Amino acid sequence: MSRSTGEVRPIFPAGAVVRYQNPAPEDIALDDLEFFPNMASGTESTSQERNILDEGRFASLASFLRDCIKDYLDNVYCYQYEKFEIIHSWVNRAPEGGYQRMHYHGNSVVSGAYYLKADATQSAPLMFDKPELNTQPYIAIATREQTLFTANRIAYPSSTGTAYLFPSHLRHGYEAPNRGGERISLAFNVMLGGIGLFYKL
Ligand SMILES: [Fe+2]
Repeated sequence: MSRSTGEVRPIFPAGAVVRYQNPAPEDIALDDLEFFPNMASGTESTSQERNILDEGRFASLASFLRDCIKDYLDNVYCYQYEKFEIIHSWVNRAPEGGYQRMHYHGNSVVSGAYYLKADATQSAPLMFDKPELNTQPYIAIATREQTLFTANRIAYPSSTGTAYLFPSHLRHGYEAPNRGGERISLAFNVMLGGIGLFYKL
Protein backbone atom coordinates (compact mmCIF):
# COMPACT_ATOMS: atom_id res chain seq x y z
CA MET A 1 0.00 0.00 0.00
CA SER A 2 2.63 2.49 1.07
CA ARG A 3 6.32 2.57 0.17
CA SER A 4 7.07 4.61 3.26
CA THR A 5 9.89 3.35 5.44
CA GLY A 6 7.78 4.28 8.43
CA GLU A 7 4.73 2.58 9.86
CA VAL A 8 1.73 4.25 8.18
CA ARG A 9 -1.54 4.27 10.09
CA PRO A 10 -4.75 5.70 8.63
CA ILE A 11 -6.56 7.59 11.39
CA PHE A 12 -10.27 8.36 11.64
CA PRO A 13 -11.36 6.92 8.28
CA ALA A 14 -14.62 8.12 6.68
CA GLY A 15 -16.25 4.76 7.25
CA ALA A 16 -15.97 1.05 6.67
CA VAL A 17 -17.20 -0.56 3.47
CA VAL A 18 -17.29 -4.30 4.03
CA ARG A 19 -17.66 -6.83 1.24
CA TYR A 20 -19.40 -10.14 1.91
CA GLN A 21 -19.70 -13.05 -0.48
CA ASN A 22 -22.83 -15.20 -0.50
CA PRO A 23 -21.52 -18.79 -0.59
CA ALA A 24 -24.63 -20.02 -2.42
CA PRO A 25 -26.22 -17.28 -4.55
CA GLU A 26 -29.67 -18.32 -5.76
CA ASP A 27 -31.36 -17.52 -9.02
CA ILE A 28 -34.43 -15.72 -7.63
CA ALA A 29 -37.34 -15.17 -10.03
CA LEU A 30 -38.01 -11.44 -10.40
CA ASP A 31 -40.15 -11.36 -13.56
CA ASP A 32 -43.34 -10.34 -11.77
CA LEU A 33 -41.84 -7.39 -9.86
CA GLU A 34 -43.13 -3.94 -10.69
CA PHE A 35 -40.45 -1.30 -11.32
CA PHE A 36 -40.78 2.48 -11.31
CA PRO A 37 -38.51 5.28 -12.59
CA ASN A 38 -35.98 6.27 -9.95
CA MET A 39 -35.07 9.85 -9.05
CA ALA A 40 -31.84 11.18 -10.65
CA SER A 41 -31.03 7.93 -12.35
CA GLY A 42 -31.24 5.79 -15.43
CA THR A 43 -32.34 2.92 -13.21
CA GLU A 44 -35.72 1.60 -12.15
CA SER A 45 -36.59 0.48 -8.63
CA THR A 46 -39.37 -1.38 -6.88
CA SER A 47 -41.11 0.71 -4.25
CA GLN A 48 -38.84 1.82 -1.40
CA GLU A 49 -41.94 2.07 0.78
CA ARG A 50 -41.96 -1.66 1.39
CA ASN A 51 -39.58 -4.30 2.61
CA ILE A 52 -39.17 -6.63 -0.31
CA LEU A 53 -36.90 -8.93 1.76
CA ASP A 54 -40.06 -9.96 3.67
CA GLU A 55 -41.23 -11.86 0.58
CA GLY A 56 -40.78 -15.63 0.79
CA ARG A 57 -38.64 -15.79 -2.34
CA PHE A 58 -35.94 -13.78 -0.53
CA ALA A 59 -36.03 -15.78 2.73
CA SER A 60 -32.59 -17.36 2.52
CA LEU A 61 -31.02 -14.20 1.09
CA ALA A 62 -32.53 -12.22 3.98
CA SER A 63 -30.97 -14.68 6.41
CA PHE A 64 -27.54 -14.26 4.76
CA LEU A 65 -27.86 -10.46 4.80
CA ARG A 66 -28.92 -10.43 8.45
CA ASP A 67 -25.74 -12.39 9.28
CA CYS A 68 -23.70 -9.80 7.33
CA ILE A 69 -25.41 -6.92 9.15
CA LYS A 70 -24.80 -8.52 12.54
CA ASP A 71 -21.11 -9.01 11.70
CA TYR A 72 -20.84 -5.40 10.52
CA LEU A 73 -22.50 -3.98 13.64
CA ASP A 74 -20.82 -6.29 16.16
CA ASN A 75 -17.35 -6.83 14.73
CA VAL A 76 -16.59 -3.80 12.56
CA TYR A 77 -18.29 -0.90 14.38
CA CYS A 78 -18.71 -2.73 17.70
CA TYR A 79 -21.92 -0.83 18.36
CA GLN A 80 -23.94 -1.35 21.53
CA TYR A 81 -27.58 -1.90 20.66
CA GLU A 82 -30.46 -4.18 21.60
CA LYS A 83 -31.73 -5.05 18.14
CA PHE A 84 -31.45 -4.12 14.52
CA GLU A 85 -34.13 -4.06 11.89
CA ILE A 86 -34.03 -3.95 8.10
CA ILE A 87 -36.49 -1.10 7.68
CA HIS A 88 -36.49 -0.78 3.90
CA SER A 89 -35.41 -3.07 1.09
CA TRP A 90 -36.00 -2.80 -2.61
CA VAL A 91 -34.70 -4.05 -5.95
CA ASN A 92 -32.95 -1.84 -8.51
CA ARG A 93 -32.68 -2.69 -12.19
CA ALA A 94 -30.12 -0.86 -14.34
CA PRO A 95 -30.34 -1.48 -18.08
CA GLU A 96 -27.37 -1.12 -20.44
CA GLY A 97 -26.30 2.53 -19.98
CA GLY A 98 -28.15 2.82 -16.67
CA TYR A 99 -26.70 4.98 -13.91
CA GLN A 100 -27.52 6.23 -10.42
CA ARG A 101 -26.38 9.67 -9.28
CA MET A 102 -24.45 9.95 -6.03
CA HIS A 103 -26.79 10.05 -3.05
CA TYR A 104 -27.11 8.89 0.53
CA HIS A 105 -29.81 7.24 2.59
CA GLY A 106 -31.62 9.08 5.37
CA ASN A 107 -33.29 7.68 8.50
CA SER A 108 -30.92 4.73 8.49
CA VAL A 109 -27.66 3.77 10.23
CA VAL A 110 -26.26 1.10 7.93
CA SER A 111 -27.11 0.50 4.29
CA GLY A 112 -26.20 -2.22 1.88
CA ALA A 113 -26.34 -3.39 -1.70
CA TYR A 114 -26.48 -7.02 -2.79
CA TYR A 115 -26.02 -7.98 -6.42
CA LEU A 116 -28.62 -10.38 -7.74
CA LYS A 117 -27.18 -10.05 -11.23
CA ALA A 118 -23.95 -8.25 -12.09
CA ASP A 119 -20.73 -8.90 -13.92
CA ALA A 120 -17.60 -7.77 -12.07
CA THR A 121 -15.77 -6.99 -15.31
CA GLN A 122 -18.53 -4.99 -17.02
CA SER A 123 -21.37 -3.87 -14.75
CA ALA A 124 -21.21 -0.35 -13.33
CA PRO A 125 -19.16 -0.46 -10.12
CA LEU A 126 -20.46 0.88 -6.82
CA MET A 127 -18.74 4.20 -6.11
CA PHE A 128 -18.27 6.14 -2.88
CA ASP A 129 -17.36 9.81 -2.44
CA LYS A 130 -15.17 11.08 0.37
CA PRO A 131 -17.20 13.39 2.62
CA GLU A 132 -16.01 16.97 2.22
CA LEU A 133 -17.04 20.19 3.88
CA ASN A 134 -15.47 23.23 2.26
CA THR A 135 -16.73 26.44 3.73
CA GLN A 136 -13.41 28.24 3.33
CA PRO A 137 -10.80 28.50 0.58
CA TYR A 138 -8.84 25.28 0.45
CA ILE A 139 -5.50 24.06 -0.78
CA ALA A 140 -5.49 21.50 -3.58
CA ILE A 141 -2.21 19.65 -4.07
CA ALA A 142 -1.71 17.60 -7.22
CA THR A 143 -0.68 14.00 -6.60
CA ARG A 144 1.48 11.61 -8.63
CA GLU A 145 -0.83 8.76 -7.69
CA GLN A 146 -3.90 8.34 -5.53
CA THR A 147 -3.46 7.04 -2.03
CA LEU A 148 -5.76 6.23 0.84
CA PHE A 149 -5.12 9.75 2.08
CA THR A 150 -5.70 11.72 -1.14
CA ALA A 151 -8.32 9.81 -3.14
CA ASN A 152 -11.80 11.30 -2.96
CA ARG A 153 -13.64 8.62 -4.88
CA ILE A 154 -13.40 4.84 -4.84
CA ALA A 155 -15.14 2.16 -6.90
CA TYR A 156 -15.92 -1.43 -5.96
CA PRO A 157 -16.85 -4.05 -8.56
CA SER A 158 -20.45 -5.23 -8.61
CA SER A 159 -20.62 -8.98 -8.92
CA THR A 160 -23.42 -11.54 -8.53
CA GLY A 161 -23.63 -12.82 -4.98
CA THR A 162 -21.64 -9.98 -3.43
CA ALA A 163 -22.94 -7.63 -0.74
CA TYR A 164 -21.42 -4.34 0.40
CA LEU A 165 -22.36 -2.81 3.73
CA PHE A 166 -21.57 0.82 4.48
CA PRO A 167 -22.64 3.73 6.70
CA SER A 168 -25.89 5.18 5.35
CA HIS A 169 -24.56 8.75 5.31
CA LEU A 170 -21.75 7.94 2.84
CA ARG A 171 -22.48 9.27 -0.63
CA HIS A 172 -22.61 6.45 -3.15
CA GLY A 173 -23.95 5.61 -6.58
CA TYR A 174 -22.84 4.44 -10.00
CA GLU A 175 -22.29 7.30 -12.36
CA ALA A 176 -20.32 5.30 -14.93
CA PRO A 177 -22.94 4.03 -17.41
CA ASN A 178 -23.71 0.36 -16.85
CA ARG A 179 -22.31 -2.05 -19.43
CA GLY A 180 -22.60 -5.75 -20.16
CA GLY A 181 -26.39 -6.01 -19.91
CA GLU A 182 -28.78 -5.73 -17.02
CA ARG A 183 -27.42 -5.09 -13.52
CA ILE A 184 -29.85 -5.99 -10.73
CA SER A 185 -29.21 -5.15 -7.09
CA LEU A 186 -31.15 -5.33 -3.86
CA ALA A 187 -30.62 -2.36 -1.54
CA PHE A 188 -31.56 -2.09 2.11
CA ASN A 189 -31.47 0.20 5.13
CA VAL A 190 -30.92 -0.84 8.72
CA MET A 191 -32.00 0.95 11.90
CA LEU A 192 -30.90 0.19 15.45
CA GLY A 193 -33.04 -0.05 18.57
CA GLY A 194 -31.87 0.28 22.18
CA ILE A 195 -28.79 2.35 21.39
CA GLY A 196 -29.15 4.28 24.63
CA LEU A 197 -26.96 7.33 24.08
CA PHE A 198 -28.75 10.61 23.53
CA TYR A 199 -26.24 13.41 23.93
CA LYS A 200 -22.83 14.36 22.66
CA LEU A 201 -20.32 16.86 23.98
FE1 LIG B 1 -28.27 4.01 -2.50
